[in-house]
Parts: sequence; structure tokens; C-alpha cells
Amino acid sequence: MRHLIDSTDLTLEETGKIIDLALDIINNREAYSHVCEGKKLATLFYEPSTRTRLSFTAAMMELGGNVLGFSDAGTSSVSKGETVADTVRVVSAFADIIAMRHYKEGAPKVASLFSRVPVINAGDGGHAHPTQTLTDLLSIRRELGHLDNLTIGLCGDLKYGRTVHSLIKAMKRYPGNKFVLISPAELRLPDYIKNILPSNYTEVETLEEAMPQLDVLYMTRVQQERFEDKAEYERLKDSFILDVEKMALAPEKMIVLHPLPRVNEISTDVDADPRAAYFRQVENGKFVRMALIYTLLHHDRLTEEKERPLHPTTCRCSNTKCITATEPVERLTYVTDAGGERCAYCDHLLEK
Ligand code: CP
Repeated sequence: MRHLIDSTDLTLEETGKIIDLALDIINNREAYSHVCEGKKLATLFYEPSTRTRLSFTAAMMELGGNVLGFSDAGTSSVSKGETVADTVRVVSAFADIIAMRHYKEGAPKVASLFSRVPVINAGDGGHAHPTQTLTDLLSIRRELGHLDNLTIGLCGDLKYGRTVHSLIKAMKRYPGNKFVLISPAELRLPDYIKNILPSNYTEVETLEEAMPQLDVLYMTRVQQERFEDKAEYERLKDSFILDVEKMALAPEKMIVLHPLPRVNEISTDVDADPRAAYFRQVENGKFVRMALIYTLLHHDRLTEEKERPLHPTTCRCSNTKCITATEPVERLTYVTDAGGERCAYCDHLLEK
């Protein structure tokens, strides 16, 4: 059994196979319309969603399967104090596969440790969003034809933007990719992501500086719900706004992606530009989730078991947004290449 908690849980080869499968599904919809008959997907959403939950639902329906779950944890026994671990033990008795979104970083990881069926991370706090990454990879493949030798500009809230964290981890595995970071100083990438960037990344302060060199511009919204200081959100929310004038500085073949929802960081005038690929990107989310569900339910399609060895620890994770701050789970670490210990749930570096 395999889970998808982090965008690198799938090897490069496995990721390529899922993208290829999504492309085959797009061209042969009828051939896949019964392949998950009799199977059930549970969508456990502890945080709001439009695209992710509905695309998972549409994906399972188009594969011939059924969907159960909740979109408001307040209507479930979570409101009575049931833990993620117990909830998932129960739901994995009813469903064949689970997609979980949670406001706590590492909650889907906890779920995977207690589930009898595959668990998919549908977004955990400001940490990771690996199925958005699969959507982004499929979108880049369809729009530009390849995933390597690209210059990717990441703009907006790089601190709390979980889609950015997962996308960097995935895109750095392809040769020749370069990253341009465009964010206010307060919303720069967390260190644990910055540390894994290839050394050729650059940081710029304006979109105008970045535009001429980009193949992909990945816009993100400033994540209001992650700010403890609402005044700081108000101060930063309009930091970068993409408009028609800035698009005029970009190469003819550059594409604009955005995980959506958009607030005001892309002017609606840009939508008519053929390089604005963000609404095409949404539909790719359904196709790639069809490919992922099908693959995880037919795990003989996966070529290689990739497990990060985990070690019990007495250290407490200092990240108050980590699931270990509220849920009584065994505290686990993994060891980084540089020899440090990171929380296995939220990736924060642990201090002895
Ligand atoms: N991209 C994304 O995760 O959108 P939702 O929050 O609407 O699911």
C-alpha cells in the first residue's frame, strides 16, 4: 500500500507514469469510466476547498466509483474531540482510499500511519499540497511539452503557500530547472525549502525584473488564514499584482499558473491573454487525480517503494501549527542529508 503525503513520495519515474496516465485518460475517457467500479473514496476536509474536493469527487465519479465524506469537520465527530488517528481508523473501514485536507501541518501523515487504505494529502496547513503539484506538472507538460530546462518564477506568499513548497520539491528533480523567487521579505520561503533549492536560484523584488526571463510564472495569493497578525496581512496583501502591463514584459511562450482561488493578485484583464493558463490548469486537476486514484488503488502500477526511514524521538516539535502540538501521536523524525533531524510530520528542524 502506498500513500501520497509529500510530492517526493512518488519517484520521478512514478510521477511521469501518473502524468502519462492522465494524458491517456484525457484522450480515452470512456476506457476509464468503469475502472474503479465498486470502490469508494472518502474526502475528509477539515478546511475549506472548492477545486481540490470537487475535483477529487468528479475524478472518482468519472472512474465509476463512489464518494463519501465531509466538507465541514464540524458536522462530524471531530467536533466531539475525535482525533485524526481514530477518525481515519474508522473511515478506512468504510472506504478504499482517503483524501484528507487539514489545517494542521502533518495531519495527513498521522492519518497514513493509522489507515488501512491509501491516504492522499489534499493540503495540510501551510506545509504541502502534492496533488496540486501533480496538477501543475500536468499543466506544464500540456502547455510547454516538457518539465526540464525551465525558468520558473514563484510569486507572492512563498512562506505559507503550500503549493509552492510542493512544486519546488518536485521541479528541482528535473534537470536544468531554475527558480526565481518573488516575494516580500516577510513572506520568503521557509528555510527547509530554501535549503533544498539548487544553488542557481535568484531572489528579486519586483515582477518587472523577473518577467523577461520566465517560462512559467506561478502566482499565489497571500494566505490570509495563516496570519496570526491580521494587520500584517493587510499590509502585505497587495504586494504583487499581475496586470496587462507586466504581461507585456513576458516572453510570448511564457505561461501563467495559479493554484487558485485568486483574490486580486492577477487582474481579471489578464484572463483573456492566451498565456493565462490557470483555468485550463483547474481541469488538469481532475484528470491527474483520476490517474492518481487509479494508480494508488492498483498499486502494482507503482514501481518502487520509497520510504524515508523514521526514528522515534524525545524532541518536541516547536512548530505550534504541527499536528504533534495537539494530537497524542508518537513523535518521529527523519534525518536530513546534512545530518540534522526534522519533524517527520511538518519538516521543521528539531533542536536537541
Ligand atoms: N488549489 C486549491 O487547493 O484550491 P481549493 O482550496 O479550492 O481546493
